Order: sequence, then C-alpha cells, then structure tokens
Amino acid sequence: MKYLVLVMLSLCSCQQALVEVPGPLGLPPLKVERVATAEEIALGKKLFFDTKLSLDKTISCASCHNPETGFADARKVSVGVGGKTGKRNAPTVLNAAYWRVQFWDGRAGSLEEQAAGPMGNELEMNHKPELLIARLAADPEYGPMKLTLDKVFFAIASYERTLLSGNSAFDRYTYGGDKTALSSEAIEGFKVFGRHCVICHTIGPKDALFTDEQFHNVGIGVNAEGVLVDQGRGKGEFRTPSLRNVARTAPYMHDGSLKTLKQVVDFYVGGGNSNEHLDPLIRPMEMSGRERDALVAFLESLNGVEAK
Ligand code: HEC
Ligand code: HEC
Repeated sequence: MKYLVLVMLSLCSCQQALVEVPGPLGLPPLKVERVATAEEIALGKKLFFDTKLSLDKTISCASCHNPETGFADARKVSVGVGGKTGKRNAPTVLNAAYWRVQFWDGRAGSLEEQAAGPMGNELEMNHKPELLIARLAADPEYGPMKLTLDKVFFAIASYERTLLSGNSAFDRYTYGGDKTALSSEAIEGFKVFGRHCVICHTIGPKDALFTDEQFHNVGIGVNAEGVLVDQGRGKGEFRTPSLRNVARTAPYMHDGSLKTLKQVVDFYVGGGNSNEHLDPLIRPMEMSGRERDALVAFLESLNGVEAK
C-alpha cells in the first residue's frame, strides 16, 4: 500500500511540465509551472509592498525585504507587528526563485509555500490567512479581484520570480567575455575564494547562487558557554547562503551577528566558533591581510543588476 502511494506520487510529479524562462547573464533559465500574466505580477508587487497583509497594517513584506538594501533587512534580526523581534536575519528575496528549499533551515519548498510563513507568524505579520482573505474581499481595491489564498500566494511568488539579479562584474568577466570587468584585486580574491570557500559556496551552471544548497555548522550562534542557541536544520546547521549581492545585504549570517564582509572573512580565517558539531571543513587558515582585502573585493564583484 505504502509502495503504491509512492508510485502514484512519483507519477504525478512526472506529469508536471515546466516552462523555462530565460535568466540574466550568469543565471540559468528559471523553471516555472506556469508563466504569470502581467496583471498577476503587478498584483504580487502591490501585495508585497502592502501593509494590509499584516494584522495591524504596519508591516509589509518589504518592511523586512527592503529594496533599498538588496531586498534584505539591514537590521540584525527582523522586527514584526507590535515591535516583536524574531531571531534570524532576513535574507534577500533577490534570486530566491532559484532556491530548491527556502529559509535558513530549508523548511519550505516553493515560494508559494514560503509566503504563507510570514503572514501567519505571530512575530512577523501575525495574520490568519482566512482573516486576510476576508479583509481583502472587503477592500475597495482588492474586493473586485475575488482573491483566494492560492491567488495571493501565486501572485506574490510570481512577483518574486521577476526579482532576478545577475549580470554582475563577475558574470561579465566569466560568462560575458569582458576581461576588463574585474579588477586585478578581485581576480586575486577569486583565487583565494577557490582555495578556501568554493567547497561550500560552489560555482557552476547548476550552482549559480554560489552555494551547494547543503546545511553546515560553521559555528554561528554559539554562546559564551559554547552552546548553540539556534539549532537550525539540526545540530546548528544552516543552509549555505547565496553570495550574489552579498555586499548589499549586511549584516551577515543567520543571526545577523557579523556586520561587514571583512568581519566574515576574519571569522573564517579564525576557524569559526568551536562547538561539538562544527563542520570539519571549518578550521583556522593562513591568509595575509592583502589576500583578505582581495577576497572582499571579489565578494563585492558579485553585486548584480535587477532585470527591472
Ligand atoms: C518581520 C519581518 C519579515 C516579514 C514581514 C517578511 N519576512 Fe520574509 N523573511 C524574514 C526572515 C527573518 C526570514 C528568514 C527566516 C528563516 O530562515 O527562518 C525570511 C525569509 C524569507 C524568504 C526565504 C529566502 C531564502 O533565502 O530562503 C522569502 C522568499 C521571504 N522571506 C519572502 C517574504 C514575503 C513574500 C513576505 C510577505 C508575505 C515576507 N517575506 C515577509 C523576515 C520577514
Ligand atoms: C563548510 C562550508 C562553508 C565554507 C568552507 C565557507 N562557507 Fe560561508 N557560509 C556557509 C554557511 C552554512 C553559512 C551560513 C552560516 C550561518 O548563518 O549559520 C555561510 C555564510 C557566509 C556568508 C554570509 C552570507 C549572508 O548573507 O549572511 C558569507 C559572506 C560567506 N559565508 C562567505 C564565505 C567565504 C568568503 C568563505 C571562505 C573564506 C566561506 N564562506 C567558506 C558555509 C561555508
């Protein structure tokens, strides 16, 4: 019986034909179940910036995913309705459409599934989905659209799927044939990156976000007693983040505890914070001051350009 269900599930997923939308330079085509209409994308954008999505009408998605700071949050951890703080730093939604799994701990799959999270989360928007639909139905702007939850999630996710950011200096150098796009310092930094970082922040056509999309404990969130305060995926493991646009999205790490890219580099050179589950790939390394600066210059070359 169990076997039969599995077979049926796998048959269903085979029938899903995906459509490919071309990505910007450096990013692969995006596979979508259905291409959204211009109206659906416009609706998603409106919803993304609308504080009516939160219970007390003070918080929108953009409150924590601010376009001014690369669609991430410049605060250490996000602040939701009633000034309540969460415990994690909001990552950028730029290129989020490419993730196989969403969130620092990978607990959501699709962007549609993800969007439900913040709305219901009492620390974020604290809005029960049924109540939101009732509010939108009574709203003069949204009422005539007869929105359902599925329509709301699809619209927001479709808008997010337009937030693709490639064509960085690194992409122009590597994939665009422009050998002047990177400074000699950034090229040196690229080599340092290849020695110490690429093992987890992988590069290649399938890893366009500079991540293996695996979960590692690099020793963030360890308190003075050496105890992990956030277990993440389990054992203090978090998803390797994308490095695209990273210079625009300070502060860093799942708890926003590192303020600058220089601090991040120094953290790695020091071998992370020891704890019982520290990834064996994280250990003290030799890196001169010049190499550290070059590595930061390389990371800065990953700032992309939004398609719109
Ligand atoms: C109060 C702040 C806050 C609000 C409001 C908020 N988010 Fe987030 N968002 C976060 C935080 C914090 C995380 C990371 C949480 C985690 O990984 O556990 C996150 C994660 C995400 C991710 C996953 C990105 C990744 O790299 O995995 C997406 C996509 C996203 N949010 C979209 C949205 C959308 C769409 C809305 C509005 C419906 C929204 N967020 C509202 C704070 C917020
Ligand atoms: C063992 C795998 C691994 C290695 C090696 C590694 N990283 Fe990371 N990196 C991660 C993980 C996992 C995180 C998220 C950790 C967390 O928040 O708990 C991270 C976070 C980061 C961040 C923060 C990004 C953000 O948006 O907050 C930067 C920047 C970064 N790494 C750069 C580097 C550089 C530069 C190197 C080489 C010196 C490196 N990493 C080596 C796995 C790795």
